Amino acid sequence: MCFPKSFLWGAATASYQIEGAVQEDGKGLSVWDVCCKKPGFIKDGSSGDIACDHYHRMEEDVEIMHQLGLNTYRFSLSWPRILPEGTGTVNPKGLDFYNRLVDALLEKGITPYVTLFHWDYPHALFQKGGWLNRDSSDWFAEYTHVVVQALSDRVSHWLTHNEPQCFIGAGHYLGIHAPGLKLGLQDALAAGHNALLAHGKAVQVIRSESRQPCEVGFNSVGVLACPATHKQEDIAAARQETFAVHSLGFMNSAWWMDPVYLGHYPQDGLELFAPWLPKIDPQDLKTICQPLDVFAANIYNGGIVKMGAQGTAEPVKPEPGAQRTAMGWPVTPEALYWGAKFFYERYKKPILIAENGMANLDWVTADGKVHDIQRISFLNRYLKEYRRAAQEGIPLRGYFCWSLMDNFEWAEGYDPRFGLVYVDYKTQKRIVKDSGYWFRDVIRSNGESLG
Ligand code: GCO
Repeated sequence: MCFPKSFLWGAATASYQIEGAVQEDGKGLSVWDVCCKKPGFIKDGSSGDIACDHYHRMEEDVEIMHQLGLNTYRFSLSWPRILPEGTGTVNPKGLDFYNRLVDALLEKGITPYVTLFHWDYPHALFQKGGWLNRDSSDWFAEYTHVVVQALSDRVSHWLTHNEPQCFIGAGHYLGIHAPGLKLGLQDALAAGHNALLAHGKAVQVIRSESRQPCEVGFNSVGVLACPATHKQEDIAAARQETFAVHSLGFMNSAWWMDPVYLGHYPQDGLELFAPWLPKIDPQDLKTICQPLDVFAANIYNGGIVKMGAQGTAEPVKPEPGAQRTAMGWPVTPEALYWGAKFFYERYKKPILIAENGMANLDWVTADGKVHDIQRISFLNRYLKEYRRAAQEGIPLRGYFCWSLMDNFEWAEGYDPRFGLVYVDYKTQKRIVKDSGYWFRDVIRSNGESLG
């Protein structure tokens, strides 16, 4: 058995990372627009002002997706492009851009997979307290309502949030992503809870207002551990570690996933965070735990652990010189197998890998091409591990490569290149990399061609 027949093969992007046109056609400011102007906030001093200029090159980009044979495309909507103040007056030109994008995709037989929130939060709402404001979930529901009214006649695949671990953890606690806040745990936990509540309310809006049956998910970072060996005890250690909440921060899985899929916060997290927890209304947890169709996660790597003498997981350090990507992230293909397995065991939903891929030091060679052999090796090995999960009977819904094209990598600027398509930022010329052609062949064979 290979990947299922209806498997979704796609690539992913996010609005602020590719669109540019940040002050055009009535778009409001986002927190990223504002933070990028703070000296030192972005490594290379850049911003998403122009990015890949996708706003003006959308048709060309959809044509490239078609050439790559993608059957789906995951993109996010810029909330302040649609609602410049976050709520209230709708910007028809902003909505029109997404209408045209959706139409262009459908015309090429590419299923639009829409993420409602991939971090470009309206600055006007940030000034009202942002996720710290208890009303923020209603603001998000209002935005969702506007979007669903406009697009759900043609869009039937939705993700609410992208990586709450990052926009709360990196954005509101560590201060390294927009809005650049270093809140105490008390406030960061409250902001996280409000964001989860916003997810729940958005799902309710989608379900009640969609003009057609739809698939809805919540997309978090799949933080996980892989066993160092196939010994039962190491596998048990990896499973335990994958769902543990044991550090005073937000980069874990269960704190975010358990409320969404199981309707409660994990016990170890409640104990750990006890001194800082906001009052949690049981009704909120009911709202947060809406029925979902898929389990969506972004998985790039996993920590490696073995069972320690104390009966708890012990990290195993990578060998010196072990494979790493240009982000410095370890290459651990088995993360897609163990991720699919552990998350399916606990949450029992078909698995959707919403992001996986690597940053590489890509450049154009004299033949005018980009020979990114490392990326082919990376994707090939990860996808084979993912396929192994399918072979064991775990339902897999799809796979999105991050990213369709090189783009603005948040605080890292433009240096890391994640794309299947190379972007020359001076000319905005696109060049399909070797990995893009390779991925096209994998898609054509529904994964049979993996080496
Ligand atoms: C994230 C975001 C993407 C990133 C990608 C590479 O995971 O941080 O979803 O926007 O660009 O993951 O870091």
